[in-house]
Amino acid sequence: MARIRPMRLSDLKEIVEIENAAFPRPWSLNSFVTQLSNEDSLCLTADERGEVAGYLIATQYVEVWHLLDLAVREDFQRCYIATDLLEHFMEKTIHGHHRGYTLEVRKSNRGAIKMYEGFGFICTGIRKAYYRDNDEDALIMWKDSEDMLA
Ligand SMILES: CC(C)(COP(=O)(O)OP(=O)(O)OC[C@H]1O[C@@H](n2cnc3c(N)ncnc32)[C@H](O)[C@@H]1OP(=O)(O)O)[C@@H](O)C(=O)NCCC(=O)NCCS
Repeated sequence: MARIRPMRLSDLKEIVEIENAAFPRPWSLNSFVTQLSNEDSLCLTADERGEVAGYLIATQYVEVWHLLDLAVREDFQRCYIATDLLEHFMEKTIHGHHRGYTLEVRKSNRGAIKMYEGFGFICTGIRKAYYRDNDEDALIMWKDSEDMLA
């Protein structure tokens, strides 16, 4: 089972490789460095015996956590690594003062949508032609903070 820990600068070489394989319009190295140095962001690495198996980046603004980036190395997929990253993220943020969590996901990304629904995210809207590479729509997903549900 992968160990979830804070992301380090030294992870970024492997992370950029995973990012490039996972997304048609991948983040640059600079984008990761910027998030790592942002004190409102949470950057997590799934460490599988010293190798980066996956990562999650989220940032908090206007009382909402925005899930910005989540990917798992192809040969580690379907081993619940993204699930572990999301669980860790929720545990770390659940008690803070915020209204909830949001993210955008490609309409065609059924696996990811199913995973987010399993975490209680619901689709609250659509951003038309949000993805520039193929003009695909994004689903906007939302999950209330547990404090609000309590
Ligand atoms: C989406 C992604 C992060 C999932 O990571 P993962 O570690 O493989 O996911 P998990 O093993 O934790 O999956 C948990 C559940 O989500 C759903 N799921 C995840 N990937 C799926 C897929 N490819 N097809 C169908 N369901 C999928 C399943 O319900 C799965 O549970 P199950 O295996 O018991 O059926 C990974 O496929 C990935 O990196 N994809 C490319 C980048 C990406 O799309 N990121 C999300 C952007 S919003």
